[in-house]
Amino acid sequence: MDDGYDEEDYAEEQTMTEEEQAQMADATEEVKEMLGNAKVSIKEIQDALWYYYFNVDQAAVYLIDELAKKQKSAQAAAVKKTGTPKPTQSGTATPVGASSKSATATPKVKPSTAATVLNVPNEDDVFEVLEDDDAPVGQLRFDLSAMNFGSSAKLTGASKSKSGAGSASLKVTTSSSATGGSTPLVTSGMSSPIGSAPPSGISTPTKSSGKSGKKIDVVSEYQKRVSEKESLNLVVIGHVDAGKSTLMGHLLYLQGEVNERTIRKHERDAQKIGKASFAFAWVLDETGEERARGITMDVGVTKFETAHRRFTLLDAPGHRDFIPNMISGTAQADVAILVVDATTGEFESGFDANGQTKEHALLARSLGVQQLVVAVNKLDVVKWSEARYQEIVQKLEQFLVKDASFKKSNLVFIPCSGFTGENLVKRSTPGNICNGSAVSDASVDENVASVLQTFSWYKGPTLIETIDKLDAPTRAVEKPFRMSVTDVFKGTGGVCAAGRLEAGHVQVGEAIMIMPGGELAVVKTMEVNDEPTSNGSVLCARESPIPVTTHFAAQIVVFDVKIPITVGFP
Ligand code: GTP
Ligand code: MG
Repeated sequence: MDDGYDEEDYAEEQTMTEEEQAQMADATEEVKEMLGNAKVSIKEIQDALWYYYFNVDQAAVYLIDELAKKQKSAQAAAVKKTGTPKPTQSGTATPVGASSKSATATPKVKPSTAATVLNVPNEDDVFEVLEDDDAPVGQLRFDLSAMNFGSSAKLTGASKSKSGAGSASLKVTTSSSATGGSTPLVTSGMSSPIGSAPPSGISTPTKSSGKSGKKIDVVSEYQKRVSEKESLNLVVIGHVDAGKSTLMGHLLYLQGEVNERTIRKHERDAQKIGKASFAFAWVLDETGEERARGITMDVGVTKFETAHRRFTLLDAPGHRDFIPNMISGTAQADVAILVVDATTGEFESGFDANGQTKEHALLARSLGVQQLVVAVNKLDVVKWSEARYQEIVQKLEQFLVKDASFKKSNLVFIPCSGFTGENLVKRSTPGNICNGSAVSDASVDENVASVLQTFSWYKGPTLIETIDKLDAPTRAVEKPFRMSVTDVFKGTGGVCAAGRLEAGHVQVGEAIMIMPGGELAVVKTMEVNDEPTSNGSVLCARESPIPVTTHFAAQIVVFDVKIPITVGFP
């Protein structure tokens, strides 16, 4: 057939120079290593490498994709019978974005449909459709920066992020379409923790190097880390002004996560706007509006460690206007601290019908929090009164056990003062009174000074000792990858998705599937990221997609119902 080329042209194209041969040998080894035990011949590897100009990542992803397709087609008949949705797999393998050099693999570029799948632009970053110059035509890259796990960087008080915690976002390159075009992908691979609590999770490389694709054994890495210290997401909830941010800001300071200079600066700046008492709260209340108004508005996220646990701390807002933020933070939490203000009249206003104490406790319980530490705070204001403490414990315990269904054995009550620091990390001792004096030169006031005598009735543990004993939930790290997408946005060059890692694990360069719809994608990068909003897709393991259903049973918790809810109620 006359295609305009003569034999010499072909012969010339297929001859490798010495340099290319050496490159091919190295790259072949790399791809072999990336593919592990996968059954792929050297010829197939080298064809893919040739096609991709020795780009190891692209070749490996292409080959992985091809393998997955072979497996799928073997299962196709069964899948059809059961009606399980599957990615449409038409046609040939489709490495895209590389110009054809060899005649062997001849992928075709398919039109991208990913934009229709991920078309929820949102400035808060979730999915991002990337369309940068080097993106192969017909591909989408997502950035699902995953949240909870993996960030190996230790965040200090100064480096926190706001918003819904526990979410993750990933950058992914989707395949061109649900028709199963393959999705050669670029990045390299670091690991990505999953389904687990944040700081501690597994590792979390956030950068793609463009080379290499060394995968880590996530399960054993996770087990190793967990055996060192368990990870927990801890949300701090309670009525507005109960002292949540102050208590946690002070705790972070006492734990060395925030230095004295920072606190002194907060104190000076807060004083200037007449809010000196908010110096510790400013550790977590970082925005100008929050500081000016003296309230938390968005969930403040930071990390800290105790002797036996790693915590991702979520400081929720107490003001009723920001309940949606409190819910998104609490939804990520494993355990909670409920802070109540012991001041006369204040506990009551938080606990009664319009207060947030009950509502937050009920929400936490219905969102899956089982272990609750109740910090009976501002005890300095009531002169460390045991009677007041017992009164509050009694009322709360009854409500939490009877109405909110907490197990009594999962409740711990701790009397403390977030402001003076009493019983957060230590107790006052003669000559060493906890009075916040590390941040203030003010003389110890009468209430605080009386702590030695009037608080001597308490013999129990400190707040930090208590949370250091909380149980960490078991993470389903060994299950197939599942990440519910809560936000998606487009950006330059790809698609970014954020959500919660529910199970399994994922690494950069891995092929994933977006259900329902069966869209294929490859993870490009992962980051610890921001707050989820809503979307509803589930990212999952290609070889084990989540089943799709038209019916589901849900347990819905409703508070303060004014009108009876009946069948057909809109
Ligand atoms: P929101 O996030 O807006 O719901 O408030 P919050 O619960 O985080 O309260 P925040 O820490 O902002 O504190 C509110 C006020 O209570 C500030 O003026 C604090 O100084 C004060 N406060 C907090 N804890 C204590 C305490 O233990 N004793 C005393 N006396 N005052 C406290
Ligand atoms: Mg606050």
